[in-house]
Amino acid sequence: MPLTGKTIILGVTGGIAAYKSADLCSRLIKANANVHVVMTVNATRFVGTATFQALTGHQVITSLWDEPREFEITHISLSDKADAFIIAPATANIIGKIANGIADDMLTTTIMAATAPVIMAPAMNTKMWNNPIVQQNISKITSLGYKLIPPQTGRLACGSVGTGKMAEPEEILDYVKNLLQPVSHDLDGLRLIVTAGPTIEPIDPVRFIMNHSSGKMGYAIAEAALKSGAAVTLVSGPTSLVCSPEIELVLVKTASEMCDAVLARFDKADVLIGAAAPADFTPVEPADKKIKKSGNSGLTLHLKQTPDILVEAGKRKKSQIIIAFAAETNDLEHHAVEKLHRKNADFIVANDVSRSDIGFASDMNEVTIIDKNGIIDKLPKLSKLETADRILDKVYQMLRKS
Ligand code: PMT
Repeated sequence: MPLTGKTIILGVTGGIAAYKSADLCSRLIKANANVHVVMTVNATRFVGTATFQALTGHQVITSLWDEPREFEITHISLSDKADAFIIAPATANIIGKIANGIADDMLTTTIMAATAPVIMAPAMNTKMWNNPIVQQNISKITSLGYKLIPPQTGRLACGSVGTGKMAEPEEILDYVKNLLQPVSHDLDGLRLIVTAGPTIEPIDPVRFIMNHSSGKMGYAIAEAALKSGAAVTLVSGPTSLVCSPEIELVLVKTASEMCDAVLARFDKADVLIGAAAPADFTPVEPADKKIKKSGNSGLTLHLKQTPDILVEAGKRKKSQIIIAFAAETNDLEHHAVEKLHRKNADFIVANDVSRSDIGFASDMNEVTIIDKNGIIDKLPKLSKLETADRILDKVYQMLRKS
């Protein structure tokens, strides 16, 4: 049981996604965690305390002046007990309060006294999420080490479609399990480069070529490697994700920039994992002004190939381990094996990107790992964090053999 012996403080704030917190709470309990729930007064308008009380077997605390017999000075003793705090949903209000050091109710005072990791799963209307003040607060708290599980894009309770939907309870549970799993030290002392996300190739100042990569697979690998003791550089195209501050994050836009960033670090690296989906083609000459429509005629774009990052790294390879990905829609293994050899990789992680339940943007993946000796390992459908662990296990086995 992954959370046996762990105490989780679940903070619930006032948003419609609070109903999903009951599901999250139940999943935490099933994973054997000891869960205490602190609700803001507004949260109690969305879900009753009785629900959480029944699930956890503990009194739900809603006010600084509640005095459950279990604790002495409640906010301090709660903080001391915690192995992790989860605030789900986290409203713009609670994020703003925490970012600005405000402690005026039970939840904010408990968080102020927190020494264990605090994980936030924001949920709010898209316009609120995009508000620069909210974004500034997010940057501030994440740079201070607060963990963020970014909201998803979809249909929101207010009827609009956009970013602001709370991450699913399953994803939050997975994140917590991963965070609290003991550090393995398997990759201690190793330097890892991971690429993640899409690249954007400019057509003109307002248009570009991009793909569906969200960066989740690459970020999951970077986090899992960090947890295993590696020094991690994450070279990322544009995504909405946030990584741990201990990871060196290099933000790039184009495939060519991604290539430069990787090659500049490759000589000193031990492992390179190419989970990004860099564009294969880029406009030959991006226009410096917005291209205008003229009559009914269409537009022909002249594209050239981008540098192949892994091929370039493969040429420079000395003792490094290179892991490629293969994003395929058909003949998965056949195409993957061809790429494995062409990129001089040690193994390749193939996934079917025609499926909507795995691959691009999903929290799950189902991959086939093929190594250069032709050994095939088909993994079941797993969360991207678990997939990342399994890929790193394979790296560890290779290192032990070498
Ligand atoms: O980001 P997510 O939404 O989580 O989705 C994850 C994913 C589907 C993007 C990921 O699992 C994945 O498959 N990444 C590889 C995507 C890709 O570009 O595949 P490819 O088969 O076209 O390329 C093969 C390999 O060459 C990849 O390791 C790629 O990073 C690398 N490559 C590709 C083009 C290029 N110019 N340089 C490269 O190094």
